Amino acid sequence: MGSFAMKPDISVVETTAPVPIPSSELPASSSPSITLVPATLLERYQCWHINSHSWRGPLSTEQYISREAFLEHQLLTREGKITYWILTDTFLSVGADGARPILAACETLRKEGYLGRNGNLRKLVTHGVGSVFCRKEYRGRGYASRMMTELGKSLETWQQEKGTKASFSVLWSDIGRSFYAAHGWKAMSNTRISLPVVSGQNSLQTQNKPDCSGVRDLNAQDLRDRICPKAIAILETNLRLRSEHRPNIPHIAIRPDYDHMEWQHARENFQAKTLFDRDPNIKGAEDLATGCALIWCRVWGEVPQNNKLHILHTVIPTDVKGDAISSIAALLLRAQMEAKTWDMHGGVELWSPTPDVVNAAQSLAGIERVQTTIRDKESVCSLRWIGGEGEEVEWVADERYCWC
Ligand SMILES: CC(C)(COP(=O)(O)OP(=O)(O)OC[C@H]1O[C@@H](n2cnc3c(N)ncnc32)[C@H](O)[C@@H]1OP(=O)(O)O)[C@@H](O)C(=O)NCCC(=O)NCCS
Repeated sequence: MGSFAMKPDISVVETTAPVPIPSSELPASSSPSITLVPATLLERYQCWHINSHSWRGPLSTEQYISREAFLEHQLLTREGKITYWILTDTFLSVGADGARPILAACETLRKEGYLGRNGNLRKLVTHGVGSVFCRKEYRGRGYASRMMTELGKSLETWQQEKGTKASFSVLWSDIGRSFYAAHGWKAMSNTRISLPVVSGQNSLQTQNKPDCSGVRDLNAQDLRDRICPKAIAILETNLRLRSEHRPNIPHIAIRPDYDHMEWQHARENFQAKTLFDRDPNIKGAEDLATGCALIWCRVWGEVPQNNKLHILHTVIPTDVKGDAISSIAALLLRAQMEAKTWDMHGGVELWSPTPDVVNAAQSLAGIERVQTTIRDKESVCSLRWIGGEGEEVEWVADERYCWC
């Protein structure tokens, strides 16, 4: 672990973005010959060429395609756990290279999840949807809508054990709340807090400097061996307790396993190596005094203000010893300092903070008020619940580690 192979043994497929079909030949989105199918390797590369300008950020198209190919080989995605989907029309002719026309595309990642009811926990398979895309030339014709309708149906049984149905799927919308809601993925509460970078404890304006003596940095191996197994055990306990406390309300969660963290870190490692020739080895911090921990990940955006250190998951033991708020404050401070070391202009961002986390952030901010804001345009965490229509569902730990 830690030995990060920038160029794993991945054979690159030489291709380009396919020439768009003339608009007069495009089918109606309601056409019965339109179908959603898993993409071939060639079609997958063509999708990356088409969507590169939307998601490559500071990378070149070639670097972006290498990253996407690299991401397919992580614990979370390998062996068919990621599916690349294309919306195509069987009436249209296949290209000379054998690729089918791509009217729209997306990806789904298989995830281990939970459903808690009345204190009982069931493990299940769920999916996260990402990279929903329709090329510019085809937009506004209803292809993405048709794709989401087909995908919603497919995911009810996709990669589920024979005879069983999925309970839910998730996605993070960058285009607000309404488009996906129209297809069944309803926006959840989507809170977040942001903290600025700081140079060190002495630069804090507040009187309440937290006790950082027990704070230790975490690397990938610590996450795999100790922190993620502990995070899973805590989450399972929380789900049991919370679903018992609110009977008949389904409580769902995505398992905070090492596979999720490794996938986020693979993106991070790739960007850091490619852009700065640096290895971001510090993946979080724990406080030995209380057992609290933060797992984080650096994310580089298209502009420097969007470079952020994201907290992937906050680990707070159910039976935490000592002062949890002050312990989390010490860990947040460590994250702010790490963000400074990496010049993350956008500071530290944390999704779905618990009241203890908000209080901890407030204690660091001094007299300045820590604002809990709502994500309603970007990264809008959305849930498609397949149980009862209109049923209230609680998503426990809807934090950044789940994002894809
Ligand atoms: C979003 C996208 C997939 C829509 O594809 P499309 O085939 O044009 O979509 P459809 O024709 O089926 O539906 C268009 C609907 O999406 C809405 N929409 C499209 N882009 C939007 C945006 N940036 N913000 C909000 N809504 C948007 C349209 O307003 C329209 O809504 P309406 O049906 O109420 O009129 C396409 O614009 C795209 O690929 N954008 C770039 C990548 C991206 O942002 N993907 C989403 C990531 S979460």
